[in-house]
Amino acid sequence: MGKLNGKVALVTGASRGIGRGIAVGLANEDAKLVLAARDTKGLKETEAKVVAQGSEALVVPTDVTSEEEIVKLFAKTMERLDRLDILVNNAGAFDNGPIDQLSTEAWNRVVAVNLRAPFLCTRAAFRIMKKQGGGRIINIGSISGQRVRPNSAPYSSTKFGIVGLTHVTALEGREYDITCGCLHPGNTLSERRADTSKTQDTESMMTVEELSQAAVYMACQPPPYQCFRAYSVTSRPALHWTGLKNISTNKQKSHS
Ligand SMILES: NC(=O)c1ccc[n+]([C@@H]2O[C@H](COP(=O)([O-])OP(=O)(O)OC[C@H]3O[C@@H](n4cnc5c(N)ncnc54)[C@H](OP(=O)(O)O)[C@@H]3O)[C@@H](O)[C@H]2O)c1
Repeated sequence: MGKLNGKVALVTGASRGIGRGIAVGLANEDAKLVLAARDTKGLKETEAKVVAQGSEALVVPTDVTSEEEIVKLFAKTMERLDRLDILVNNAGAFDNGPIDQLSTEAWNRVVAVNLRAPFLCTRAAFRIMKKQGGGRIINIGSISGQRVRPNSAPYSSTKFGIVGLTHVTALEGREYDITCGCLHPGNTLSERRADTSKTQDTESMMTVEELSQAAVYMACQPPPYQCFRAYSVTSRPALHWTGLKNISTNKQKSHS
């Protein structure tokens, strides 16, 4: 029996790439999946992979820039599966460019997908998990949330921002056994990065499967354990942790 048997996991950006890989990895540990993204065909392909692992999936086409659609996504999850144990905020937008040439629309698009949507999904999940007595939220950050490249103002700003969201969620979640951690991938060979001519796509890459294993490891930690940050990079060992701790020991402490 898988470590996540009986658990329900919702993954945003599950129509391809890292989100698909994480969904399949969680299904391999017997979690039931809720798959969200805009591309229904891609979601159905992920569903087939989840089913091939012997699990089941609920496909909910969702544009995470729409608050209304996010509300419906969580309502449908509860209506059909009646619980939510794991949220993976993975959907990503990547519009970038020199700062003096960036449009406000590009900035808004990236912020809407990479920061506003994780907040809206976290808020919805937190409400459910609080009633349920706990849960896990995993945010997909980036090495760009630690070290920046030029021409990446929207992307890097949102990835720095999600670190803050992670820490606040983790702090507020302590009392309710809701944990929140941020997994920061290094270069990962998703389909998006396989066919571009950008210099960074010629750098060494890890596979989606390796990255997925890191996310599944975070999801499988026993309840009181909190992992604030994990860096998954191409060097060996491929996973670096900071802040893995037993949150139950912190419940009585005042915040510092
Ligand atoms: N690959 C890397 O090297 C790398 C490195 C560091 C961090 N990351 C992070 O990993 C995550 C996934 O990246 P990836 O490489 O797998 O990218 P990807 O292949 O382009 O996948 C992005 C996913 O986000 C979804 N998405 C985008 N806009 C959306 C919207 N408005 N509503 C709902 N879903 C939306 C896409 O689905 P639809 O288009 O179907 O909506 C797709 O499933 C991102 O958060 C990214 O920042 C990736």
